[in-house]
Amino acid sequence: MQLPDDIHFYQLRYELQEVARWGSYLSTEEVERRGLMKAESRKQSFLLGRAALRSLLGELTGAAPAAIELKVLDDGRVVAPKTPYHVSIAHSGDRAVAIASRRRVGVDIEQIVEKPEALLRFVLHKDEIEHVNSLPVPNNKRLFLCWTLKEAVLKAIGTGLLRSPKTVKLEISYDLGRANVKEDEGFLWEVRFEQQEDYMLAVAVEPAE
Ligand SMILES: CC(C)(COP(=O)(O)OP(=O)(O)OC[C@H]1O[C@@H](n2cnc3c(N)ncnc32)[C@H](O)[C@@H]1OP(=O)(O)O)[C@@H](O)C(=O)NCCC(=O)NCCS
Repeated sequence: MQLPDDIHFYQLRYELQEVARWGSYLSTEEVERRGLMKAESRKQSFLLGRAALRSLLGELTGAAPAAIELKVLDDGRVVAPKTPYHVSIAHSGDRAVAIASRRRVGVDIEQIVEKPEALLRFVLHKDEIEHVNSLPVPNNKRLFLCWTLKEAVLKAIGTGLLRSPKTVKLEISYDLGRANVKEDEGFLWEVRFEQQEDYMLAVAVEPAE
């Protein structure tokens, strides 16, 4: 994905032979947390997300991935308190992505699967429907496009889905792979998006000063 120079991006795909190495990056707390997870798929996505973020911050700071301090805030967000970076993680299927920037950022990735397009009514404000319907997007991708764009923004804001996706409104330039997403309060987020095979990926950043 083409991103501005100050937005740093890292992507991993699950590979069995890498599990031991990625596992060695985890802190004691993360190993404990992962141990309490019941579903194997959740264990895998947690490992992949942490490995992606630790690898990225390792590259940016020169530290070993395992030496990087990560904390989880009460709202679920991951932060890297000893670095100057805002960070965000997302995982879906066998992939995970991590981003870091001095600007506020959020990322989302979703595997595109069959889902009724009617679910869009839980995502879109009525004022957005005409715009979204006018986009040259194949029908089965419309839901995933809108969803990932909005979730990336809600993660950058830090609420996640505790805040309704209807409170952030889309203005999508589909052919450019870009969108402006406006909060009800007026703040504008810039989002880049891309389809990678059967995954939709979106990165939201606050505008540069
Ligand atoms: C955050 C949320 C949008 C994630 O959606 P998802 O599609 O299930 O998962 P994604 O792969 O896109 O993102 C997961 C990552 O988002 C991050 N995250 C969690 N809460 C977040 C928040 N409030 N803001 C930004 N990022 C958040 C975490 O790093 C998480 O990965 P991890 O648990 O492996 O560390 C969704 O779970 C949500 O909104 N939850 C409500 C907030 C909440 O309950 N937070 C947990 C409180 S303990």
